[in-house]
Amino acid sequence: MELFETMLQHSSVRSFTQQQLSQDLKEQLTLAAQSASSSNFLQAFSIIEITDIKKRKQIEEIANFPIDNGDKGELYIFVADLNKHAQVLTLNNDSIDHLRTMESLVVSVVDATLAAQSMAVYAESVGLGICYVGGIRNNLFQIKELLDLPELTYPVFGLFVGYPAEKNEVKPRLPINAVLGTNTYRTLTPDMIDSYNKKTTAYYQQRSSNTQETNWSEKVRQHFEYPRRSDTIEFLKKQGFVF
Ligand SMILES: Cc1cc2nc3c(=O)[nH]c(=O)nc-3n(C[C@H](O)[C@H](O)[C@H](O)COP(=O)(O)O)c2cc1C
Repeated sequence: MELFETMLQHSSVRSFTQQQLSQDLKEQLTLAAQSASSSNFLQAFSIIEITDIKKRKQIEEIANFPIDNGDKGELYIFVADLNKHAQVLTLNNDSIDHLRTMESLVVSVVDATLAAQSMAVYAESVGLGICYVGGIRNNLFQIKELLDLPELTYPVFGLFVGYPAEKNEVKPRLPINAVLGTNTYRTLTPDMIDSYNKKTTAYYQQRSSNTQETNWSEKVRQHFEYPRRSDTIEFLKKQGFVF
């Protein structure tokens, strides 16, 4: 399949077969991740492959996301990482103060995200399925302990990669004119929202599993009904960031 077609067929996979990824393929996945663009070539991310089943189960529990008994597919944790840069600067007796800023944090989160998405796109292009797991941030302190995360790092999400056992239907995206403006920002109109709600209502009613009476506005409402992971700021401060 053409890469473009593969990309349009993306849907998150939450169930994998027993088939293991070869070492070569795992290396290619990491190289694909590393090939992503990187702000100022800082390469401000790390990837942690979870092979310890006990650890993986603990992570899945934190994420409230058990996948196939913890032994199918690979789990990679993407970490925004300025610790490497702290080491470089410290070796040179330079200050690490400017690693602690919100801007540096954003740079590292973006780098980690681009690396992950490069891995994800490559994985899907060779027939693998993927699913991001932001749920690892349900307990940042426990994740830090499990992964021995040092100062100036932040675990952004996990990424499951494996051979798909099941695939969900593709979720209809917002119309192009809702995300692409020309020269100025494009604001969503009530009509756009209404027509997208009709589309997503039909999707949730008709999909082959986990059918629901809902739509995109309702999903948005539910998501922002209460503050999520409000310990993030405390965690980041403990990791050495200053806001
Ligand atoms: C950063 C990020 C974190 C996510 N975390 C989770 C998660 O914790 N659990 C989950 O089931 N899906 C998670 N997802 C998958 C999204 O729910 C999914 O991408 C979205 O519903 C769109 O569906 P699709 O990927 O099948 O098109 C996450 C996606 C992203 C990008």
